Amino acid sequence: MNVAIVGASGAVGQEFLRVLDEQNFPIDELTLFGSQRSAGRKYTFRGKEYTVKELKHNDDFKGVDVAFVSAGGSTSVEFAETITRHGALMIDNSSAFRMDKDVPLVVPEVNGEDAFNAPRGIIANPNCTTIQMVVALKPINDISKIKRVHVATYQAASGAGATAMAELEEQNAQLVRGEEPTVEKFAYQLAYNLIPHVDVFTDNGYTKEEMKMFNETKKIMHEPDIQVSAMCVRVPVLRAHSEAVWIETEKPVSVEEARKVFEAGEGLVVVDAPSEKKYPMPLFVAGKDPVYVGRIRKDIANENGLSFWIVGDQIKKGAALNAVQIAQYMIAHGWKK
Ligand SMILES: NC(=O)c1ccc[n+]([C@@H]2O[C@H](COP(=O)([O-])OP(=O)(O)OC[C@H]3O[C@@H](n4cnc5c(N)ncnc54)[C@H](OP(=O)(O)O)[C@@H]3O)[C@@H](O)[C@H]2O)c1
Repeated sequence: MNVAIVGASGAVGQEFLRVLDEQNFPIDELTLFGSQRSAGRKYTFRGKEYTVKELKHNDDFKGVDVAFVSAGGSTSVEFAETITRHGALMIDNSSAFRMDKDVPLVVPEVNGEDAFNAPRGIIANPNCTTIQMVVALKPINDISKIKRVHVATYQAASGAGATAMAELEEQNAQLVRGEEPTVEKFAYQLAYNLIPHVDVFTDNGYTKEEMKMFNETKKIMHEPDIQVSAMCVRVPVLRAHSEAVWIETEKPVSVEEARKVFEAGEGLVVVDAPSEKKYPMPLFVAGKDPVYVGRIRKDIANENGLSFWIVGDQIKKGAALNAVQIAQYMIAHGWKK
């Protein structure tokens, strides 16, 4: 495969380099793209040095089979035609096309086959908090339809990009030195704090991030009636998002049944032994591929309810890994440019 990474210098772009290598993705040629800011920068992949090219409206994508794009929504919109016009498949990490009818929104463990219905040559990678949640919802939904989901997220600084992660590290260092922390990427100081505000607010009082979880879950799971109410919170964690989830199913699901289907669920690992202090935590999940689930229990406030805790590395499964898995799924099912 001839592969391009657009946004190579970013948090997700850098993860693409690691994931493509870890996954032994078949690569003949690799081309890295960025803005003027990172053009000329060099990165090493499988022992070879690559120089970032400036993304421009030209024919640079001519021989490309798959373009992994993570350079923000406005860049995706501006360059989609340039990227796809010679037949390259664009797997896009931004939110620009996710809800478009002619763009599939894919999590391979849930709806991999949707990837083959991409008339514009664009496949959207879902929002990171939604990806890890639907991986956990799918096996439960297969045994009893989920009617309602309440979810509170605990989102890492790196979810807002490489510079946001650097800002949290810098704030911690500044506070230790007794200095006033620099606040640029978030609305407030994140170190020693929580911010109940991820992305911008919409008219109904929810944020865009929260509405992504509402809308994208329906599309990925092909469940237009599933209701998702989310409260998204930024926390001073560097990497890996956590989510407290409460679901209501049509028929009651016991803890034992839930544990059994979670254990068999694709892309899931159960860590759930509270008496031994075993539950998933971002510190230990950062850098790992699967979505981890624990604290599985009946919801004592709802007889058809279950509650659990999930943690996933949002730069991996929530972004780069999921995108690479989409390409792997398609190749395994016969896709060729
Ligand atoms: N971080 C996450 O956990 C996460 C998870 C899921 C999805 N995403 C999505 O992935 C995308 C990238 O996120 P990130 O966290 O990696 O952000 P980031 O660390 O801020 O990186 C942004 C990247 O986009 C590039 N870029 C910006 N404008 C460009 C342009 N006009 N032309 C070419 N390249 C351009 C930047 O290149 P320069 O260095 O040249 O500016 C940089 O490589 C966003 O759409 C984000 O919503 C992020």
